[in-house]
Amino acid sequence: MPDPTRRLFFALWPDDTVRAALDAAGRTVTGKRIKRVAADNLHLTLAFAGPVAADVAACLERAAAAVRLPPFELRIDHAGYWARPRILWIGPTHTPPALWDLAGTLRAILADCGIAPEARGFQAHVTIARRFVQAAPAPAFPAVCWPVSRFCLVQSVSADHASVYRPLRGWPLEGE
Ligand code: 2AM
Repeated sequence: MPDPTRRLFFALWPDDTVRAALDAAGRTVTGKRIKRVAADNLHLTLAFAGPVAADVAACLERAAAAVRLPPFELRIDHAGYWARPRILWIGPTHTPPALWDLAGTLRAILADCGIAPEARGFQAHVTIARRFVQAAPAPAFPAVCWPVSRFCLVQSVSADHASVYRPLRGWPLEGE
């Protein structure tokens, strides 16, 4: 029987305070038939691995444990809309260099573990609603200050036509 796979990705996983603030920011947006991302699922994807077998997951964990990068602060102050996936998101107007470094490092780890590179470049965003049809300019909301001191490996689990995200392991940002 083939190895079972798990759908994995590296992400920033907010603590309860930041999660509540991100959720409140997302709720400033209203629209018909939009599918809001549940507060418990809010996150910022750093590098998407997709379905991987246990040996590849172990490779990712080993490499993630060796990452030495500094903590940083994210200011989520801006909403955007991507027409093709019909996604509404919030993110930083300015992506700090430390976040570029972290996402780049994790994407390189994916490649080292044999995972094909993502087609899309890194764009820091937290998806807050899907199937959104833009009716009005995205609203302004009070900026969310997100102190980032760890990153996580997260599993996406399909449940009743939706996905639930479960952080499996986290590693501190404390280098340099
Ligand atoms: P999204 O935030 O733009 O929806 C779990 O599915 C996470 O991985 C989501 O945050 C999703 O991005 C992202 N994701 C899903 N499929 C992806 C893909 N093929 N390439 C990059 N990221 C993906």
